[in-house]
Amino acid sequence: MSTVKKAIIPAAGFGTRLLPATKSQPKEMIPIVDKPVIQYVIEEAVDSGITDILMVIGKGKRAIEEHFDHNFELEYNLAQKGKKEELEMIKRISDMANIHFVWQKELNGLGDAVRYGRLHVGNEPFAVLLGDTILDSNTDKPVMRQIMEVYERFQASVVALEEVPKSLTYRYGVMGGQSTSDDGLYKVDQWIEKPRPEDAPSNLVIAGRYVFTPEIFDLLEVIPTGVNNEIQLTDAMRLLLKSQDMYGLHFDGKRFDVGNKLDFIKTNLLFGLKREEFREPLREWLKGLEV
Ligand code: UTP
Repeated sequence: MSTVKKAIIPAAGFGTRLLPATKSQPKEMIPIVDKPVIQYVIEEAVDSGITDILMVIGKGKRAIEEHFDHNFELEYNLAQKGKKEELEMIKRISDMANIHFVWQKELNGLGDAVRYGRLHVGNEPFAVLLGDTILDSNTDKPVMRQIMEVYERFQASVVALEEVPKSLTYRYGVMGGQSTSDDGLYKVDQWIEKPRPEDAPSNLVIAGRYVFTPEIFDLLEVIPTGVNNEIQLTDAMRLLLKSQDMYGLHFDGKRFDVGNKLDFIKTNLLFGLKREEFREPLREWLKGLEV
């Protein structure tokens, strides 16, 4: 039985929805409370058992590389000042996993970004985690681990699904499929990109975490450019369904698309409220707001 050890994290996108914050800094480096978004993503991967990560980045994204590298000057400075806690915290970030970087030369879409991982991944199953999306598990098991366990059971590709109001299906890639005897687990039979509510086969949508069998790489090479003149990962997934089984897991947790402004604000508030040192003062302050 094979398991998943490698992950691709696409993080090359422009982040136009978060402008002007993303004019000269990557959206993945924007903090939620005190940690950049991308660190939540890497921690989820590592806590799920991923040991080897390839991040696909683009122009203006060097800060991501630096965040996961050692900063000897800062470490020396913290050591000199006896700031042990901070020192441990920043050392841990650079020791978390084996992280490699590759540059996506032109931003030709998510499918194109995944394609850049082919050499690195080889002939193994692999995970994909979107670098701008935080998935917060309701249990001790990270969402990526929940997805990987489905892969380990069926040795087939698996996609994380979240439920959205039916009226919003036009914004997402929507799954059509049959529920299985396992709670939240679906056998997929179609993917429909951004359907009108009346055409949507369900209200379960693609949520930014995947495990793929390596055959997806061949399909990414043959699909034509799709919507927005981009190589669409969903198009390759649709093709994969013709030759292999695919599962969808309505995971136990919540999704935060930090790449849009409202979700970004909500995520900061919610994660702030989760932190013991901020919970009470933040709650009090929110109650007193007169807006
Ligand atoms: P988005 O659809 O959020 O696009 O990409 P974006 O360009 O990052 O953001 P906006 O729409 O301009 O605000 C989903 C994921 O795919 C990655 C992004 O970095 C994000 O993690 N992506 C997208 C790439 O790596 N390369 C691409 O060419 C496109």
